[in-house]
Amino acid sequence: MKILIHFHSGTGNAKRVARAFEQNFLTAGHETSLHNIEDQQTPIDWESFDFQLIVYPIYGFNTPQFVVKYFKSLCPLVKPLPTYIVMESGEWLKLNNAAYKHLNRFLKRKKMILRGELHYLMPYNMIFRHTDEMAYRMDQTMQSLAKLDAHRMLALETFHLETIPFGTLISTVVRIQYLGAKINGVFYHVDKKKCIDCRLCVNQCPVKNISYDEKKQKLVFGPHCLMCQRCSYQCPKDAIFTGLFNSWKVTPKYHYQKPYKPEQNKHPNYCKHSYAKYFSWSEERILKGK
Ligand SMILES: Cc1cc2nc3c(=O)[nH]c(=O)nc-3n(C[C@H](O)[C@H](O)[C@H](O)COP(=O)(O)O)c2cc1C
Ligand code: SF4
Ligand code: SF4
Repeated sequence: MKILIHFHSGTGNAKRVARAFEQNFLTAGHETSLHNIEDQQTPIDWESFDFQLIVYPIYGFNTPQFVVKYFKSLCPLVKPLPTYIVMESGEWLKLNNAAYKHLNRFLKRKKMILRGELHYLMPYNMIFRHTDEMAYRMDQTMQSLAKLDAHRMLALETFHLETIPFGTLISTVVRIQYLGAKINGVFYHVDKKKCIDCRLCVNQCPVKNISYDEKKQKLVFGPHCLMCQRCSYQCPKDAIFTGLFNSWKVTPKYHYQKPYKPEQNKHPNYCKHSYAKYFSWSEERILKGK
């Protein structure tokens, strides 16, 4: 089979998920192409793929606007393309499960036929920082689930997420965050005393929203922010204020390599029950091997 994986990732979690699927498809002997949605120049031979997988983080109970815009901009395909979606987020809540629905409206118009959606838990990149041990546990769980789910996709199985009543309505209302991210982005600024002028933020911003103003001799943020958190998460000096939501900033970066020690698994109270539910659901699936 020939498989196309698209991903969009602010701080690396969705990229880790996309890579895990890529590895599983390759190991099973299938030709796999990984496409970062930030690259919109390289042409894609759509007709040559047997199915596609789209991976992204959930933002405000929705698909990131950047992902929606990309698929909206495409021409309809000639041949229908089976499609899977893997969303990952900091909260394994059913309320998040409707996040793909808005995107699916555009996928349908492009003849991209949704066969299945999944929702994995990954470490939160805003509001609060997990321990590295918890991040490691989430990542290991994701790797095991991706192994199982890659095989379900290769068999072109159909599976759908459970959503709650009014989930789609709530997700529609919260879509206001598309605009909120842009407004908040204007309030981003840099602490000049901390900044070492490495320009990592300038070079890494997915929408080139950060530039150096020669006149003012400082970094300035434009009106296109996606609130993806990449600039503040990657800044080596923690020099970026993320606008009105600075207290939600997550730094330093997670280190996923630390061995997970159960005794260090102090679940933060936040989403404690949904995390416990996620881990027991995953462990059961992993034990059963399906
Ligand atoms: C702007 C923004 C909004 C978010 N909204 C939600 C949300 O509604 N629900 C949730 O569970 N996690 C939410 N998150 C957390 C991310 O989905 C989560 O940390 C994800 O792993 C980040 O993926 P990435 O590293 O690929 O960017 C949000 C993160 C950001 C930056
Ligand atoms: S990444 Fe941080 S230290 Fe580097 S230029 Fe940007 S704000 Fe300054
Ligand atoms: S300014 Fe920062 S948060 Fe906004 S889109 Fe660029 S990298 Fe992401």
